[in-house]
Amino acid sequence: MPVLSPKRDQLRERLETRLAGVVPDFEIAIKAEVAEEVELLKRETGAVVLGHNYMEPALFHSVCDHTGDSLELARIAAETTADPIVFCGVRFMAETAKILNPERTVLLPAKEAGCSLASSITAADVRALRKAYPGIPIVAYINTYADVKAEVDVCCTSGNARRVIESLGSDQVIFVPDEFLARNVARETGVEILVPTVGEVRAGELPVMTGDGMVGWAGRCEVHEQFTTADIDSARAQFPDVTVLAHPECSPEVVAAADVSGSTSEMIRHVRESGGGRYLLLTECAMGDNIASEIGGGEILRLCSVRCPHMNEITLENVRDALLNFEQRIELDEELRVRAKASIDRMLAIG
Ligand code: 13P
Ligand code: SF4
Repeated sequence: MPVLSPKRDQLRERLETRLAGVVPDFEIAIKAEVAEEVELLKRETGAVVLGHNYMEPALFHSVCDHTGDSLELARIAAETTADPIVFCGVRFMAETAKILNPERTVLLPAKEAGCSLASSITAADVRALRKAYPGIPIVAYINTYADVKAEVDVCCTSGNARRVIESLGSDQVIFVPDEFLARNVARETGVEILVPTVGEVRAGELPVMTGDGMVGWAGRCEVHEQFTTADIDSARAQFPDVTVLAHPECSPEVVAAADVSGSTSEMIRHVRESGGGRYLLLTECAMGDNIASEIGGGEILRLCSVRCPHMNEITLENVRDALLNFEQRIELDEELRVRAKASIDRMLAIG
């Protein structure tokens, strides 16, 4: 049996405590070794590692200096002075870090880590909406690429969408690209919503907006769109005491049938603060694993057939490789970056 260094020993103990029953012991031992390599590389390079709440449990609980939802990580990215920044999340998140830190190296450990929402809309689509609905402010969910952020007025995340929209003081708002998040905000605020088809926008045949309300975009999260009210009914039939938490990228029917809806960190806080109960998390499955060890006598139910293939691209192994090779750098055109930053800065200023 190999002799473990004291640090590796500590890391392994921490992972064993956090991941008991979630990750098999032999895998924890392997992951602890890779985590120690990453720690060593972090010390050598001065890197900071930011990890989204969806990261695999061994990564989430070992080498991340900060974890959080998109809004929290954008705020940390705006404040950090570390260089390089290793972003354990998907491309639009790493791009946001680069937009805010042009002088620093931002590494995305897997260049394939995309997002179905971000790829559902182009900068030309936003220009077509602006032309069809002149004068109406455009809000982009942070799950968009830099070229789309560069065309809009302000960004938002799942944690502040309503606040950002209300801050505009406008009776009409265009909200892209998440149809369900837009419908959920419209439902909460009691406004009408019109969602043109992508074909209508691209053909320039947009419906006329007659009254107050929102114009949405037909983009969907390929993970959250899979949850149904039947999933909730089935969980409630088996576990009548279950608290159901749904991310606002789920359909309005699912969000209405849930007990709580919020960003990934809001869901985590709810579970932590109410502790000890039984919860069904309608979101990426790894997040349930990440908080399962924190809730003492409680239980996290989750639907693990529903995974985000993009978030799952990021592993401890490719974080190590990114720090060894410095290859997966985010690079952006400067003129585009400056315009995209204005939309992010407006969101961060809203608080
Ligand atoms: P949060 O901002 O709530 O973490 O959501 C990001 C995301 O991509 C959810 O699918
Ligand atoms: Fe995009 Fe959905 Fe994956 Fe989040 S879970 S990164 S919205 S595809």
